[in-house]
Amino acid sequence: MTAVENVPAPAPAFVHIEGVRGGPPRSTVLRPDRWWVQPALVVLGLTAFIAYTIWTIVRDGNFYAGNVGRDYLSPFYSPCLTSVCAKNGYVWGDWSWWRTSPAILAVIIPGAFRSTCYYYRKSYYRSFWLSPPACAVADAGSTRSGGVRSRYSGETRFPLILQNVHRYSWYLVLVISGILTWDAIASFRFPGGIGVGLGTIVFVLNAVFIWSYTLGCHSCRHLCGGNQDRFSEAPVRHWLWKNVFSALNEHHQLWAWVSMIWIAFTDFYVWLVASGTIHDPKLF
Ligand code: FES
Repeated sequence: MTAVENVPAPAPAFVHIEGVRGGPPRSTVLRPDRWWVQPALVVLGLTAFIAYTIWTIVRDGNFYAGNVGRDYLSPFYSPCLTSVCAKNGYVWGDWSWWRTSPAILAVIIPGAFRSTCYYYRKSYYRSFWLSPPACAVADAGSTRSGGVRSRYSGETRFPLILQNVHRYSWYLVLVISGILTWDAIASFRFPGGIGVGLGTIVFVLNAVFIWSYTLGCHSCRHLCGGNQDRFSEAPVRHWLWKNVFSALNEHHQLWAWVSMIWIAFTDFYVWLVASGTIHDPKLF
């Protein structure tokens, strides 16, 4: 018998719906390491992004750089559907009945998609709700730690059962990703013809990061290959599942952060250019 075979198999750790809410009591310290660093960084990162999103929605201006000869539309305002967009020279729609920021319309679908993403759920359950903040750390929601719930209900009840919209919102986000790709293509358009500005590179990267996040989605991986019983009958699907969806899914957390930060950066760049704060150099 080898050394490995001598190691007894660990007992399976089942999660029981309606079971006692887990984790050690708060007084029990099982981890001497700095387990709190990651949840703290997630709180900082997500709070900063939410604050930036609110700022960009309420600023309601300088979201399109047509005034300085650039076809750059902020991803927070795309697709831009209201008459404000038509006034700015960018026409996706002309809804004159919508009186407030067009960004509110544009962020609904991506917001629903991201907020129900499996990765983001894990991060905010851990970091904001401390439920639990890390493995072997007290669950702040448990009555054992002074919380209000003694039983674990998972995502089986309202409101968390709404997290199931994720797989449906994925279909809608495919359309949004297509529109952001169109925005990247449009960024090659210059008054005298076609060219490449610094902003063009920003927009192309934005589209690449958005697709890397969208196609690495756990729901996408399942829809596109996970429910196939025999891959031998679907070689193309198998290839895509293995080399595209699973490869991206493996780094889904990374793509979640990169795409999120880059969306904010793209918007910020458009704001700088449209407001005349910086000049967007034409590279060729
Ligand atoms: S699981 Fe993250 S986007 Fe679907």
